[in-house]
Amino acid sequence: MKLENPSVHAATLEHFWMPFTANRQFKATPRLLARAEGMFYWTPEGREVLDGTAGLWCVNAGHSRKPIVEAVQKQAATMDYAPPFNMGHPLAFQAATAVARVAPAGMERVFFTNSGSESADTAIKMAMAYHRARGEPSRRIIIGRERGYHGVNIGGTTVGGIPGNRKAFPAMMAGVDHIRSTHDLARNAFSKGQPAHGAEFADELERLVAFHDPSNIAAVIVEPMAGSAGVLIPPKGYLDKLAATCRKHGILLIFDEVITGFGRLGTPFAAHYFNITPDLLTCAKAINNAAIPMGAVIAKNEVYDTITNAAPEGAIEFLHGYTYSAHPMACSALLATQKLYVDEQLFARAQAMAPKFEAALHSLKDARHVIDIRNLGIVGGIELEPRAGAVGRRGLEAHIRCFEAGVLVRSTGDILALSPPLIIEDAHIERIVETIRTALAGLE
Ligand SMILES: Cc1ncc(COP(=O)(O)O)c(C=O)c1O
Repeated sequence: MKLENPSVHAATLEHFWMPFTANRQFKATPRLLARAEGMFYWTPEGREVLDGTAGLWCVNAGHSRKPIVEAVQKQAATMDYAPPFNMGHPLAFQAATAVARVAPAGMERVFFTNSGSESADTAIKMAMAYHRARGEPSRRIIIGRERGYHGVNIGGTTVGGIPGNRKAFPAMMAGVDHIRSTHDLARNAFSKGQPAHGAEFADELERLVAFHDPSNIAAVIVEPMAGSAGVLIPPKGYLDKLAATCRKHGILLIFDEVITGFGRLGTPFAAHYFNITPDLLTCAKAINNAAIPMGAVIAKNEVYDTITNAAPEGAIEFLHGYTYSAHPMACSALLATQKLYVDEQLFARAQAMAPKFEAALHSLKDARHVIDIRNLGIVGGIELEPRAGAVGRRGLEAHIRCFEAGVLVRSTGDILALSPPLIIEDAHIERIVETIRTALAGLE
């Protein structure tokens, strides 16, 4: 296929090896987006598509917001780049302060990365460095959870728990174990908000801790609400149990808040929503409305102090970092984004819209093929019955039908995931839900 309006050279689809994409299928029937504003995308042909996914769970303030665009433009013309190793620039410090202001109390040290994947691997290294600095270097095992997603780097892939992602890349990092997923359709199908059953799944952590011995375990990493594996909401009491077990055994708790960070649940972080303060918190995506790649690890002050104070004066304390850590343009987007979140009270807005979103979503209970609906904050998951012998096909076809009907929803296997921008209005919610209903009615 030849693309319209190639900027310099004639462009075709064959050169771009697309990430997490069925390349052959996509290139046979491409779905392209060329412009975005507010709640909407437009295709190169000018067709409007309502964004039911905030891009990829990341454009929380809506698309191409003017204050963010202008901040990035200004920064590009002022200073394109500055090295972050043993040098600094004012925006990096301002950006870290802006993040610390919304972080849970006592978590005020911010390490910048460029993605959620880098944040996960950075947090894993911080946990190991912390225990080494405390004089317990044997604590190296990291415990993840089945169906967890922590990005695609070596650490994140290994502690992640999505079988397909791990299949070709087994055990790339030593010393990893997993607790089971909390997904329990039999007892919890069609729960609104947090399901009632399954706090006891956290007991498995005690078993693994006894098995490996606490003296060998550095950290537990979980998404407080698992997003990528299909919107799995933690059962009531489950996260409290996990946190208590970690505390009891001196194990660091890492919350991966790449999706839940910055208002998705109606609070700054899921840590606030669940009233649990982890030791390390990873984030990315909505940190700067996804305008420029950026992520961060937010550390408890005590973790930073322990690592920093253990090194001799004048020595680099944590030998880790990226060329683009705290990139000036990413920082400018972050500052403008965080200001927008406050100016428009978008986290409170998400909280106010959540009950309407929940009610609309659950009105799909009787729609064709639906076997479960889950929701929390402005996140929704609609699980479809898999087609016999073709797991995932029905989900992908539903995604394509919705896109053709002008609504972007995400499919992960046979689960449709929704995470629209937090500026969403009633009419958008209705359009998303009715488009899904119609798409499912016509789907085999
Ligand atoms: C919980 C979680 N962690 C990590 C990542 C990886 O982030 P990135 O794609 O920016 O590397 C994601 C991406 O969706 C995520 O949802």
